[in-house]
Formats: sequence, C-alpha cells, structure tokens
Amino acid sequence: MPYETEKTKSSAAAAAAGHAMIEIEVGKPSGNGVGEKTSLEIVGDVSARLTWKDLTVTVTLNNGETQKVLEVLTGYAEPGTFTALMGPSGSGKSTLLDALSSRLAANAFLSSTILLNGRKRKLSFGTAAYVTQDDNLIGTLTVLPDKMAWLEKRALVESTIIEMGLQDCADTVIGNWHLVSIALEILKRPRLLFLDEPTSGLDSASAFFVTQTLRALARDGRTVIASIHQPSSEVFELFDQLYLLSSGKTVYFGQAADAYEFFAQAGFPCPALRNPSDHFLRCINSDFDKVKATLKGSMKLRFEASDDPLEKITTAEAIRVLIDSYRSSQYSYTAREKVEEISKVKGTVLDSGGSQASFFMQAFQLSKRSFINMSRDFGYYWLRLVIYIVVTVCIGAIYLNVGTGYSSILARGSCASFVFGFVTFMSIGGFPSFVEDMKVFQRERLNGHYGVTAFVISNTLSAMPFLILITFLAGTVCHFMVRLHPGFEHCLFFVLCLYASVTVVESLMMATASIVPNFLMGIIIGAGIQGIFMLVSGYFRLPNDIPKPIWRYPMSYISFHFWALQMWSSVTKSLGIS
Ligand SMILES: Nc1ncnc2c1ncn2[C@@H]1O[C@H](COP(=O)(O)OP(=O)(O)OP(=O)(O)O)[C@@H](O)[C@H]1O
Ligand SMILES: [Mg+2]
Repeated sequence: MPYETEKTKSSAAAAAAGHAMIEIEVGKPSGNGVGEKTSLEIVGDVSARLTWKDLTVTVTLNNGETQKVLEVLTGYAEPGTFTALMGPSGSGKSTLLDALSSRLAANAFLSSTILLNGRKRKLSFGTAAYVTQDDNLIGTLTVLPDKMAWLEKRALVESTIIEMGLQDCADTVIGNWHLVSIALEILKRPRLLFLDEPTSGLDSASAFFVTQTLRALARDGRTVIASIHQPSSEVFELFDQLYLLSSGKTVYFGQAADAYEFFAQAGFPCPALRNPSDHFLRCINSDFDKVKATLKGSMKLRFEASDDPLEKITTAEAIRVLIDSYRSSQYSYTAREKVEEISKVKGTVLDSGGSQASFFMQAFQLSKRSFINMSRDFGYYWLRLVIYIVVTVCIGAIYLNVGTGYSSILARGSCASFVFGFVTFMSIGGFPSFVEDMKVFQRERLNGHYGVTAFVISNTLSAMPFLILITFLAGTVCHFMVRLHPGFEHCLFFVLCLYASVTVVESLMMATASIVPNFLMGIIIGAGIQGIFMLVSGYFRLPNDIPKPIWRYPMSYISFHFWALQMWSSVTKSLGIS
C-alpha cells in the first residue's frame, strides 16, 4: 500500500530535518518517550513548532449577529513536515490560516492558545510567510535586507530560484504567479510558511510540482501549512499531516496516510478505485445533499442499488458521525498529547521584530519598484499625459489669446475654473491602478515588508516625475495659447499650482482607495467629494456669497479649488484687469 511507504518516508525525513538542531539537557533526565523530549531545552534551533489548542473564531456579521467560523480546533505543525488543510468551500481553511498567522479580519474574534516554540508570540517578518489565495504581484522587485552585500543578495535570489525550480523562467516574463509569490516569501528565509490554496487554478502537473516544491521546503527543516483544494492522488501522497475541516469543525487531524483507516473505522471506507482525497471530501461536503435533492427532483438521478454508505444517510449525518468518531478516536487523543508535549518545550524565540530592511532602504526600493511599474503601465500615466495635452490644446484653442480687456475677466475666470476643476478632475482616472497597488501593499504590509509611511512616501516620490511632466507640458501649452500673464515666473507659478492641485487629487484618491473595497465605488466617491469642493471654490458662487455656515467655513477653505482660484485672482489682479 502506498501509504505505508509514505509514512515511513515522512518520519525519516522529519528526523533528518531535526538533525540540524543542537539539543542540550537542562532538566533532570526522565524516563522514556514523551518525558525525555520535554526535559530538553533547544538552543540555537531555528525551526518553528506551532501548536494551537481549542482554537475558536467567532465573526460578527453586518446585521450584528455572531457566527462561529471555527470551533475548538486543536493541532500542531512541526518542522520538516508538510501539513495539508482540506475541506469543502467555506469550511474555514483560510480563516484557520489567518488565525494561525495572526492576520484575522477586524470583525473576527479569536480565542485560543497558539504557541510558537512553546511561547506566545506574534508572528512577524522573517519568522512566518503567508501566500494568500489571490496573491497580487507587481513582479519587479522585493525588499531584501540592506545589510546584505549585493553579491550575497544575488546568491540568495539565485539559490531561491533553484530551490523553487524557477531556473527556466528566471529571465523571462513570469507565467506562474503562484510560484513567484511563494519564491518571494521564501527569500525571507521563513521558518514557517502558510499558503492558502497554492495549487488552485493550476493543471495537475503544475499542482504536483508546486506541492512537491513545498514538501521539499518542509524537508529542509521548515514548517509548511497549506490549504489544498481537491488534490489529485499523486498530490495527496505528498502530504505528511492532514487537517480535514467541515463547517469549522475537525473531521480528522493526523498522519495523512492514516486518514484512510480512520474513515474505514468510522464506517465510510474508501471504495476501490476512488481517489482517497475525493472520497474524504465527498463524505464531508454537505453541498452533495443539495445536489442530490435537485437531481432527484428533476428525475435526472436514477438510484441504483449500491453498497456505498453515503447513499443511505445524508452528508450532514455523515459529517456528524465522523466528527464524533474523531473526537473519541485515538487520533484525537494522540494529537492532544502531542500538542501538550510540543508546547512544553520552550524553544528559540524566532521573532525578529518587523522588516529587516531600514526605512530608507524600504522607501528607496518601493519608489524604484513603483516607478518601474508606473512607467511600464501605459494606462497609469502615459495615457493621462496624452489626454491632458489634447484637453489643454482644446482649452487653448477656445480661449486663444484671451486678451486683457474688461470682457476677458469672465473668460479668464472660467478658463481657470475649468483648468483647476475639470482638468485636475481627470486624475481620478488613475484610481484603478491605485486599487491594484493597494492590494499589493496590504499583502506586503501584513507580511511585514514595510509600513504605511514608507508606502506613502514612495508612492508620492515615484509619481512625482510623471506628474511634473504632465503638468509642465499641459500647463505650458495652456499658458501660452491662452496668453495668460506673460513672463516665465508666472508660467512656472501656474504649472506649480496645477501640479499641487493634481497631487491633492492623487492623494485624495489614494486615501479613498484605502477605505473603499473596489474601484467603481472609489471613483464615484472621489468624484462626489471633488464635485462638492468645486461647488464651494468661489467660481460658481462668489466666495462672499457662499452661505457662511458649513459651505464657506470650513468647506471652501478645505477645497483646493478655492485656493487655486485665489491664486489665480491674485495673478490677474497683478495684471491690473480686475
Ligand atoms: N471576517 C469574516 N466575516 C464574516 N464571515 C466570515 C469572515 N471570515 C470568514 N467568514 C465566513 O466563514 C466561513 C469560512 O470562510 P473561509 O474563507 O475560511 O473558508 P474556506 O474554507 O477558505 O473557503 P474557500 O475554499 O472558498 O476559500 C465562510 O462561510 C465565510 O463566509
Ligand atoms: Mg479560502
């Protein structure tokens, strides 16, 4: 049977992984087995042993009700082993990974004892890495420790490329994003690796390759926990430990190879010629009940005599039977014992406390990456540059040589209002790109690469050259065609005002992107805010006529359009035409 060989292989590999540790005795040597191990203090060991006991996650829903997403889960993950998390959709796999890596959503409440090497620790940069289900990548650069010499960094990158089997695509445009996400996280040399469905969307060969790579990473002494959706039998054979979840409850936790026997003991033996993982998921996926009921109703399903126990009872009942038999089984008992045993060993503190790169290095690397991204993405700034020039040429043509006569006052006012109102308004077109940036930022921030300040500074810096180029070209075209106040310094002042206004719009949209969930809502909200600002700018109603409470104070003073027009009127005043 393949499972038996697998079991021996996994324990041998786990032993090999543990080989690198230096164990010294600090307590009195006790008898045998479990007791012997707990009396050892592990020094200089950088491996991560994770245990969680009675882990419960409760979320507060929008209507104020609470829902238990995970219920009293107990388990552990050891270095050298690859733990697979399986369960139907909505069973709580992602939530368990989030809970273990301390990145649960704000509305989720966690109650559990999660110990890393026997200590309560928040996982941070360098210790744990997390590759999410929908990883967003820019795929240009990553932040490496700045203390490292360039050659060292290159060696690290190269060894990671080889480790991940990415040699063939190292210099080409990347196709396998999941592998690259994993590789980027591996660059930090984490001891603990969490992956949420790293194989989803991949064909069976790629899924096997990714899983094999993860297992190799585990064999290297790392602790790997990954949720895997519908694995093939080859992929399943690569698992060391299996955590089966259904509606937030443990159906099985133990050696992956023993799951077969557990299901048979519980009364659900895997039929011959069926992929064991398919069988396990079939037993615990209550959606099958609904599917059967629908098919029965539409007479599409003909029931034939079968000895499959699942034909006789509903999946909900099967789940209940399995959960109960796991609770009273040897596997559950062993898991609890093992958790106790591991949590008693006070190992090395693995917390390196945040990113290893200095603040300036983070900001520099981020600015560089963001600049490359902006310059490669035609829709980010290049298209805006073209449109700005086209629009300002149109403005120039309509207000061509507006003159300095009495009648030009209104024309100048409306021209300024258009430039600072509508032309700056066009900057909200960059919003979808902000939203993409934001997704990458959120992931990387949670993974401990850098903070909000570095992100904001780098984004402002990298956008600067583009904004200067756009406003300089558009502003000069407009200034000379309309023949605004002559003189280089006045032209420069006009361009600077335009630059400041566009920067405000960009920042406003960036702030909006951090609050709203999608770009459609962001554009609507951003447009609304700017509409109100335009209304109180002093053009549509003169500043003194704007109602004083709220609209004049403070709204018009908050509006950047108001200040842009103030500047304008001071320039026109100096021209002596108003
Ligand atoms: N922050 C939250 N607020 C409200 N409900 C939540 C929250 N987090 C998880 N849930 C609910 O908990 C359940 C489990 O979600 P989770 O994403 O962990 O499942 P999953 O096993 O990862 O599913 P999938 O295979 O689809 O990724 C779902 O029903 C989900 O709606
Ligand atoms: Mg999920």
